[in-house]
Amino acid sequence: MKALFFDHFGGSDVLEYGELLEPVITKKDLLLKMEYIGLNYADIYRRRGTYHIEKRSPFINGYEGAGTIVALGSEVTSDFKIGDKVLFVDVPFSNAELVAVPEANAIKIPDDLDTKLAASIGLQGLTADFLAHDLGDMIKDRDVFVHGISGGVGQILSQMLTADGLNVYGVTSSREKQQLALDQGAKKVFLRKMDWQKDYISYFDTVYDGVGITLLDSIRLLKNRGKLVFFGMAGGTPPAVDLVELLSQSKSILTGDLWDYLTSATERKERSERLFDYFRKGKIAISEPTIFPLSKGKEAHDFLESGKSIGKILLKP
Ligand SMILES: NC(=O)c1ccc[n+]([C@@H]2O[C@H](COP(=O)([O-])OP(=O)(O)OC[C@H]3O[C@@H](n4cnc5c(N)ncnc54)[C@H](OP(=O)(O)O)[C@@H]3O)[C@@H](O)[C@H]2O)c1
Repeated sequence: MKALFFDHFGGSDVLEYGELLEPVITKKDLLLKMEYIGLNYADIYRRRGTYHIEKRSPFINGYEGAGTIVALGSEVTSDFKIGDKVLFVDVPFSNAELVAVPEANAIKIPDDLDTKLAASIGLQGLTADFLAHDLGDMIKDRDVFVHGISGGVGQILSQMLTADGLNVYGVTSSREKQQLALDQGAKKVFLRKMDWQKDYISYFDTVYDGVGITLLDSIRLLKNRGKLVFFGMAGGTPPAVDLVELLSQSKSILTGDLWDYLTSATERKERSERLFDYFRKGKIAISEPTIFPLSKGKEAHDFLESGKSIGKILLKP
């Protein structure tokens, strides 16, 4: 099968596309013929060697994707069958034509949900879901701020919060992205290059920060007793935080990794159904994903790292 892989860490130049052995499924695996593969920031961290990865050489990157079941292990007990469409967000080696998916990690794509949409919202949507429902407070009329509001997680998170009655503010880098976030229901969206922060010191109940380098700004934007939800480093390593200063203002920092919120088949099913429901009811709509052929993986990584992308990047075998 064809796959995108690397055998040492580094820039996007380390990525190679070529022929590798097909995966061998265990008794509890499904074999998926991939239709769309999600590219995520974590894949960039893994390629650079700054994030945990499975030991395997050459290493096939990627943990997310959607496809069709073409074979079933002999002990698969759930009601999956050949031809079913499946999404996964926490299975390694997805940058390939075929992927072995443990049945517990497989999320059946409902008939009324397009496979491309499922692949576009899987990992980022389930992240938005736990950030909003487990870490944040879904309390109507609260004022919340989302960094990178027009990114993949940002678009879904901000619409989820708006749909549930919160007032969503955010910041982004371009007029085009600003307009997108406003069209998606945000109350106010600032441009990063503008001097907007001085009017919003101690203003927000919750600040969502997946950018990292913005952490100290995020703390300043919070009111006393407010919550900072820190979930990623798209902009770079976060600065050190003075816990005593936080304590003196009763501000809290919460963190979370999606994989700790997807620990069973039941959890994956319940959380994905809650996510899919927002889309079914028309409460969330996202921008069209940008699709690269899997053979152009280097270009896809470069595009994600350039900061020019809006929303999801998918790879197509
Ligand atoms: N904790 C978890 O389980 C989990 C799961 C998934 C993702 N994440 C994290 O969530 C974050 C967003 O991921 P994503 O998939 O949504 O990526 P994405 O679509 O590329 O969005 C990243 C956003 O970060 C903003 N950004 C990048 N560099 C910045 C900088 N120097 N200053 C300010 N903003 C900057 C960009 O804002 P502009 O568009 O305005 O430039 C962009 O919208 C990443 O840190 C990722 O690692 C965490």
